[in-house]
Amino acid sequence: MGKPKVVLGVSGGIAAYKACELLRRLTESGHDVRVVPTESALNFVGAATWSALSGHPVSTEVWDDVHEVPHVRIGQQADLVVVAPATADMLAKAAHGLADDLLTNTLLTARCPVVFAPAMHTEMWEHPATQENVATLRRRGALVIEPAVGRLTGVDTGKGRLPDPAEIFEVCRRVLARGVTEPDLVGRHVVISAGGTREPLDPVRFLGNRSSGKQGYALARTAAARGARVTLIAANTGLPDPAGVDVVQVGTAVQLREAVLKAVADADAVVMAAAVADFRPAAYAAGKIKKKDGADPEPVALVRNPDILAEISADRARPGQVVVGFAAETDDVLANGRTKLRRKGCDLLVVNEVGERRTFGAEENEAVVLGADGSETVVPHGPKEALAEVVWDLVADRLE
Ligand code: CTP
Repeated sequence: MGKPKVVLGVSGGIAAYKACELLRRLTESGHDVRVVPTESALNFVGAATWSALSGHPVSTEVWDDVHEVPHVRIGQQADLVVVAPATADMLAKAAHGLADDLLTNTLLTARCPVVFAPAMHTEMWEHPATQENVATLRRRGALVIEPAVGRLTGVDTGKGRLPDPAEIFEVCRRVLARGVTEPDLVGRHVVISAGGTREPLDPVRFLGNRSSGKQGYALARTAAARGARVTLIAANTGLPDPAGVDVVQVGTAVQLREAVLKAVADADAVVMAAAVADFRPAAYAAGKIKKKDGADPEPVALVRNPDILAEISADRARPGQVVVGFAAETDDVLANGRTKLRRKGCDLLVVNEVGERRTFGAEENEAVVLGADGSETVVPHGPKEALAEVVWDLVADRLE
């Protein structure tokens, strides 16, 4: 089997320079990449750069190498087309099926998954014309990644930045791995909590846990690659924002609860992957707690935190909303998992066996996913994203 064939379409925005990094990641990970820039993209990054980095000739027009019928061949042979950056103009052309250069022709002939990573000023992104074009493309099965929020060209900040090339690469990798053209979570809003809460004792100390947030981020990335609108509520993770995901940063269990309750109002599914502290210090000392010479330490009084998973399971914000919890168990894993599933009232519970060998922060995981309907899905040891895909498969079944 040859290398997977990727077409990297580049349209004319300043973020075109970031596509060089995406190209490098794609080629270095074993993809055969053909770059198809638009004429205006070449104002930002020249053909020599694309050609040297991809190892292929670069053309913007259908008139070069006509005997090879490139306007049809490139799209037909591709395993994935990714357009990064996709300008407002490019989204409009793609939505309306215009074909006035090599890239737009390629988009019409491609039968593989197509990913657009838009980048533009906030006003252009929010304009009803652009939003309708994006909706059209999504309805037809294209994956349009939400732009990131941040510094734009000039002095502006807002939504419209091209997501980090490393994150766009992750989306491409996942779409290629799934090998399906229709993302199955399009039109769905999913909410994921990740990381571990920190419960402050005084301005410099907290009670916390070792959750890295990696499983929750894997869930967010895979859901975005399957077309969902994703809200990721992140507690103390320090991880980079995944592409196309709205990230809400929180610190404590109480803040996490507030953010989750707000986000789930219109959510189709909620996955509580965060390690939420069951208790918090009863009192917060406004000044640093000092040790007193010779005196024994004061005991720390704790109070219970709200159980967010139990609360959202009992009081569903929408009919048919699917709620997923996580559980870490050391003994009697399945029996304890079943009891916890009933106690929490969720639809699915991902049960991890934790022990001395299994450390927090690892890249891999294994689990059993228990269903309230009695189902049991064993997920063998593997990358956290493999577990995430299984969770979304089970959620998607229940959403239908
Ligand atoms: N959870 C939550 N709110 C809490 C505690 C936990 O929403 N205050 C959620 C976690 O996000 C996770 C699941 O509940 O999805 C895991 O609960 P866990 O901490 O394992 O269960 P506990 O009810 O604390 O049971 P125990 O500590 O006795 O194992």
